[in-house]
Amino acid sequence: MTKKRIIIDTDPGIDDALAILLALASPEVELEALTIVSGNCTAQQGLKNAQGVLSLANATHIPIALGVERPLLQPLLIAPETHGDSGMGYATLPEPDVAPIDSHAVDFLIERIMTAPGEITLVPIGPLTNIAMAIRREPRIVTAVKEVIIMGGAIRAGGNTTPLAEFNIFCDPHAAHIVFHSGMPLTLVPLDVTYQVVLTKEDVNRLLQIQSPITQFVADSTRFYMEFHDEYQSIEGCVINDPLALALAFAPQLVDAEAHYVDVDIAGGVSMGKTFADFYRMNKQEPNMQVALGVRPRDFLELFLERIESLAHSLTPAI
Ligand code: BDR
Ligand code: CA
Repeated sequence: MTKKRIIIDTDPGIDDALAILLALASPEVELEALTIVSGNCTAQQGLKNAQGVLSLANATHIPIALGVERPLLQPLLIAPETHGDSGMGYATLPEPDVAPIDSHAVDFLIERIMTAPGEITLVPIGPLTNIAMAIRREPRIVTAVKEVIIMGGAIRAGGNTTPLAEFNIFCDPHAAHIVFHSGMPLTLVPLDVTYQVVLTKEDVNRLLQIQSPITQFVADSTRFYMEFHDEYQSIEGCVINDPLALALAFAPQLVDAEAHYVDVDIAGGVSMGKTFADFYRMNKQEPNMQVALGVRPRDFLELFLERIESLAHSLTPAI
């Protein structure tokens, strides 16, 4: 099997960490690198978290590149109420024992994509600042990248950061505007589908049947995330947005996607960062992306749980 070469651009983040673990647990993909952006926490904290997650999973050979530390125009927005002060909820991660690479994430993304045209799949699961900067710096990446699977936006669904806007897009709507209109082969994974993917306490208890630093990490981080969902959104369990986007790199059948012309509001009013699809082609524009609008949540959750179980087994010596 030829593995899909992927780079995750991330603002780690509890569900980002789960997406990274899912990538490491999935034989269909080769995780080539992590590039870091600000979002759920500062980029510096996100870097530490990414290093800790890779240490936890014995994967410190994977390069990490630090990226842009602020949105293009908007003030920095982080989300300690959602992900905790460290970004990892109640979990503590191993201290980083490897340094990030010297290249800036934007330069690294350009270099990797341009040296392997048609081969690199990007999975941005944070604000799109690094990707937008890379497009402006080297526009040829638009046709050289294989595909780009973005967790972000809310099409028919309401927002999770403003009544209308989703967090990743709201943090840097101008970056999203650049990416949406770039011509890259995009798939959008909005809240419409991710909010159907709810990890429950029972799911976590199932993972805890395996005693392992990995399952303990999932339990400690998601306990905080579940408290947030309960307090702010009356959801029992927690929505794991980012791992769903990652899974689509190798299991696109988990969602029903449609081609649409999607845009984002950058006018600065109450709908700043709102993503919207022109369902009836009123603007006579060709579709600029595939949008996931239906999902088989339990199929995804089973896949997620099985893979985290096998990762935990593979890293835990048999007694
Ligand atoms: C997105 O925002 C963050 O809270 C999550 O990590 C996810 O990428 C969901 O809106
Ligand atoms: Ca994220």
